[in-house]
Amino acid sequence: MSDPRLADLSCRLPELRLLTAAGDLEHYGRDWTRRWTPAPLAIALPATVDEVQAIVRWANEHAVAVVPSGGRTGLSGGAVAANGELVLSMERMNRVLDFNAVDRTLTVQGGMILQQVQEAAQGHGLLYPVDFAARGSCSIGGNIATNAGGIRVIRHGNTREWIAGLKVVTGGGDLLELNRGLVKNSSGYDFRQLLIGSEGTLGIVVEATLKLTDPPPPSQVMLLALPDMDALMEVFALFRAQLSLQAFEFFTDQALRHVLAHGAQRAIDGDHPYYVVTEFDAADETQREAALAVFGQALEQGWVSDGVIAQSEAQAAALWRLREGITESLAPRRPYKNDVSVRISAVPGFLCEMQALLANEYPGIEVIWFGHIGDGNLHINVLRPHDLDEPAFLARCEKVTRLLANTLHCHGGSISAEHGIGLVKRAYLESTRSAVEIVLMRGVRKVFDPRGILNPGKLFTESS
Ligand code: MLT
Ligand code: ZN
Repeated sequence: MSDPRLADLSCRLPELRLLTAAGDLEHYGRDWTRRWTPAPLAIALPATVDEVQAIVRWANEHAVAVVPSGGRTGLSGGAVAANGELVLSMERMNRVLDFNAVDRTLTVQGGMILQQVQEAAQGHGLLYPVDFAARGSCSIGGNIATNAGGIRVIRHGNTREWIAGLKVVTGGGDLLELNRGLVKNSSGYDFRQLLIGSEGTLGIVVEATLKLTDPPPPSQVMLLALPDMDALMEVFALFRAQLSLQAFEFFTDQALRHVLAHGAQRAIDGDHPYYVVTEFDAADETQREAALAVFGQALEQGWVSDGVIAQSEAQAAALWRLREGITESLAPRRPYKNDVSVRISAVPGFLCEMQALLANEYPGIEVIWFGHIGDGNLHINVLRPHDLDEPAFLARCEKVTRLLANTLHCHGGSISAEHGIGLVKRAYLESTRSAVEIVLMRGVRKVFDPRGILNPGKLFTESS
């Protein structure tokens, strides 16, 4: 190691795997945003909690910033290392440590991939219910750091609901054991919840004790075609009242076009502006009949123009692909993303204003909508026209985001529903959090990370 700081790290931890090859720096230095040029100092791949603590202590001594790193599937730049940071990748800390059948908990290391967590729970006849398209590559530590949501929030809530305990290494290198799997624990501040969603700025999640639940009952998946946006909330209200929903996701015809071009199969003929993929309990004939009746009602009301119910698991997967494949199909265009939320009751009013705003601000620009409408969470993806260069496109999008942030503020919404603030949305944090809150957040950060070495520049700027 020619860098004396890295030489010191290797000397302290001779077993530590450290990578400095250009390809590794590029691979580990970026997330799915692809907006920043990766430029980390090196990549550390610890195998133990002791190593994580030692790395953090070393970083404090040498004033080296540390970027905690999971699957780097984030969409807010939270795992980007573009300024000589040490990337601390949790990928080698990826094992199940314990399953407790009485507590119904699974304890795993922070670098475990979400899908493997889900499979481990399934192996014990139980369910870890947080789920989304990046399941095959995102890590549980990253999910915790962003309080990840996804497609089952309507039934099961966000990651926050499923964390019974955490072990974290703070910015000072201390190891905290938070809540220890307790169901009841009224003993002061709940740092576990504080760490969830802190985007790697307070501590590094090295272990998590996850709550598990009963596996879901048999379900059916339905794709609906809708004639207009107003119908969306009507259909949602009807389906939620009559069925036991597991998911209710929407997307536009433009989103569909991209997924189809990416290899998905069309499931409904004709042109329809909006679509919904919904999954609901269908354990018996009564529930299946109820679903058909509700569909009939929606059809009669004119809220739905067509629909299809999956007749097999393969067909269900094909319908889901129409929704879950959107991000991947858009990725080559490196869309500018907004991930916003309002209370469910505020969705209709917000949608109205937002539609007008976007139509006004992005004439001639392709804007693709999809999202978790049942959670009040919309994803707005803006595609750069070929005749607009990247800086001009970004400047335009930032201007619109400022307007969108104002609209969200009026509706009491959030500039980041589930992707996190990271680098992408830090300029808009004050549209969602009050000035006093941000001062307190900065203060909390100082307590957990006095030298500011953990993920500096993410969530908020480091100044003041
Ligand atoms: C999704 O809902 O598909 C994810 O949040 C990813 C995205 O917004 O692109
Ligand atoms: Zn989403």
